[in-house]
Amino acid sequence: MLGGDIELDPTNGQTGASMGKTVWIGEVQDGLYDGKTVELKGWIKRTRGSNKMRFIVLRDSTGEIQCVGKKDTIGEESFLALKEALIESSVILNGTVNVDERSEGGHELVVNAVEIVGAVDPERPFPINKEALDVVDEDGEPMPGGSEFLLNHRHLYLRTSRMTTMLKLRSSAFGAIHNYFRAGDFIEYQAPNFVAGAVEGGSTLFEVPYFDKVAYLTQSWQLYAEAAMPALERLYTIAPSFRAEESRTRRHLTEFWHAEMEVAWATNDEIMAHGEGVVRHIASTLLDERESELTSLNRDLDAIARYADSPYPKMRYDEAVEILQSKGVEVEWGEDLDYSKEKILTQDFDLPHFLTHYPKIAKPFYHRVDPDDEKYVLCHDLLAPEGYGEIIGGGERTWSEEEILRRLDEEGTPHEPYQFYIDTRSYGGVPHGGFGLGVDRVVSWLAGASHIREVIPFPRTSRRVTP
Ligand code: 4AD
Ligand code: MG
Repeated sequence: MLGGDIELDPTNGQTGASMGKTVWIGEVQDGLYDGKTVELKGWIKRTRGSNKMRFIVLRDSTGEIQCVGKKDTIGEESFLALKEALIESSVILNGTVNVDERSEGGHELVVNAVEIVGAVDPERPFPINKEALDVVDEDGEPMPGGSEFLLNHRHLYLRTSRMTTMLKLRSSAFGAIHNYFRAGDFIEYQAPNFVAGAVEGGSTLFEVPYFDKVAYLTQSWQLYAEAAMPALERLYTIAPSFRAEESRTRRHLTEFWHAEMEVAWATNDEIMAHGEGVVRHIASTLLDERESELTSLNRDLDAIARYADSPYPKMRYDEAVEILQSKGVEVEWGEDLDYSKEKILTQDFDLPHFLTHYPKIAKPFYHRVDPDDEKYVLCHDLLAPEGYGEIIGGGERTWSEEEILRRLDEEGTPHEPYQFYIDTRSYGGVPHGGFGLGVDRVVSWLAGASHIREVIPFPRTSRRVTP
């Protein structure tokens, strides 16, 4: 059992006695309380009715249910409170659960007592209404949550059903990543977020004042993980990474959540097997834990089952360039493929594909040169299908001291900020490698989100650091 003999029940067995809430709407809709009297705590989603009878749709984090309050049963005072309660007021409703086929979810609460906990001021009603939610971009495409108004009110938008659904998928994805690596005896390991040098090139570094020096926000955990290779051999993390990324695509954030791993003695193929393993595990976990959420987003469950069950094909970079050229895309050998090209390449894929062996000139110094052909590095990107593109970047690392010094010099990168990194090669360097997976990207692809900002509570982009 997790935690040995630690008591995992927060109520210490006294269910109901020390918990603020014991009945969840989701459980009521699952039929656990049919015919019983319950106390439901939640927020008013909709309200309508007459001077004799009110219909309240009550929601909590697990679902929603229609509640009926009759003046005759609850009395004048409670009825008035219910009638005047505005959308997004928090309330406690006591009542009896009836099975009712006509109600959404199959159940209804017949109210017998009402308590308004947090009333909404009629002078300032909840600002997010149906019109505000139905936004389209300049091409008429829906852009859920994407208007300036909704982004300015993100703190209130969080409680809308689409956003809540995305956040549940996100939570399951984080859990799946931890489970995958822990099941494989990986050690969770933390690196600093203030760093002295770039990992992924200087153009996307955030500079921050650091007393009398300057520091940068880290782009990746990787270099500090490599320092722990001789100590722990199998490492992973889930942490924020930062990129001063001006690209306004549907897959770029300036602060994103990065799941990274690093393994000693491993080859590019073994590392790809882990990349495939973790993505498949995320897909299967979403199917196990979040089927109803995926269905509510109109996701094709067969496609997600395919991502969970099938091996992912591999292709070399050169082959991808040929495919793009055959489709009339202008692409020069040696360039890293950007979103516009990955989008075209992956449009007809029905599974994620690994692209391997990128040209050395397209990748940073830490990528290991292919001993069979010095023009290439032993690396991979995993590209998600449906026009999504890159979700993982990884590969083998340059591990000999002599080679790392040569690669830094070829790039014109100063040694000084990387002295710790070079040292790790001087004392028992070993072949090793790893990858970084963009968690927000994976969730956004699997959820079928229209934009990466849909799956993170407070998105940070080049245009926005508030709220
Ligand atoms: O390909 P990247 O830049 O690789 C690295 O950072 C390596 N140091 C990782 C490693 O080997 N440990 O980033 C890895 C992944 C990308 O494939 C993408 O999924 C995600 O991180 N990513 C971003 N996600 C959201 N917004 C951005 N601006 C991102 N930049 C990268
Ligand atoms: Mg990359």
